[in-house]
Amino acid sequence: EKGTYPHFMLKEIDEQPFVMRRIIQEYQDDSERLKLDEDIRSAVKACDRIYIIAAGTSYHAGLIGKQFLEKMAGIPVEVHVASEFSYNMPLLSEKPLFVFISQSGETADSRSVLVKIKEMGHPALTITNVPGSTLSREANYTLHLHAGPEIAVASTKAYTAQIAVLAILAVDSARARGLELDFDLMQELAIVANAMEMLTDQKETMDELVRENLGITRNAFFIGRSTDYFVCLEGALKLKEISYIQAEGFAGGELKHGTIALIEEGTPVVALATQENVNDSIRSNVQEVVARGANDIIFSIQGLERDSDAFVVPHVHELLTPLVSAVPMQLLAYYAALHRDCDVDKPRNLAKSVTVE
Ligand code: M6R
Repeated sequence: EKGTYPHFMLKEIDEQPFVMRRIIQEYQDDSERLKLDEDIRSAVKACDRIYIIAAGTSYHAGLIGKQFLEKMAGIPVEVHVASEFSYNMPLLSEKPLFVFISQSGETADSRSVLVKIKEMGHPALTITNVPGSTLSREANYTLHLHAGPEIAVASTKAYTAQIAVLAILAVDSARARGLELDFDLMQELAIVANAMEMLTDQKETMDELVRENLGITRNAFFIGRSTDYFVCLEGALKLKEISYIQAEGFAGGELKHGTIALIEEGTPVVALATQENVNDSIRSNVQEVVARGANDIIFSIQGLERDSDAFVVPHVHELLTPLVSAVPMQLLAYYAALHRDCDVDKPRNLAKSVTVE
């Protein structure tokens, strides 16, 4: 039920801090270890490469998961769009582990890959919000997102839950492989939950920001580098899906290879700047677009902020910044859709779970 909320999407955005806390509760063990199934631990330990298969928002979470698994656990990871996988099946490693990420667990594109790789005899783990779903039943193992039912077509709390659970999987895999990590993930996730609460309290600011910058535009660009780039892909998908503004996410360094030709007087460019190592370079990309007339809207993070930034998210552990930068992106899309009188929860032409290929 929506309760006092005008839309499920807004309710689900607001639920994110609670979802983070529930995930901490569900996956935290009394000892040093995380509460992960021993079978999953063994499967990850045994594999020599992980193949993440997903669609849409879940694919975007997979891109961030790849970074966690590679950086923390040292496992090579490939991320594939489910609908493309069979056309360009990669040469598989000797001991692949397939990880399906799906909020609904019913996405037909992902299921057809699951059927194929099972025929080939490879193990599969499904990360889903619906444990009894098709993808969950047909895989060898399941990790539950614990996000609670997600009703709005635009995925919000499932996306951040996917990122958090992927981080848990990465930390657990690192430990299983005998690697030392210099941070306590559960403690960092608790900090994220508090940060998310501060962000969901800033709805009026986001509403105003949208009114000022996305009022009449037909298009918008999202730019970022490194992890911020992946969050930009998600921010753009969210915006186009519910507000019908043509929105695209780009890697900052790619602008000069074509996209910058599209920048006109007043084109909104949302730039994400939450990563220290790319802060200077993304800001110089912003200058390049501003010099061509763009209207820059910079989202940065405490510690890296500058006076001209439009919005600053609270500081969290560098690996977990997508969990906080996603929230203003979601609110941006929400208010843009609201201002345009769009059907926020049920955008045209879209279904909550896509059960056809
Ligand atoms: O249920 P799934 O996670 O498998 O769904 C995948 C996509 O259809 C889904 O994430 C879609 O992109 C969302 N509507 C985006 O908000």
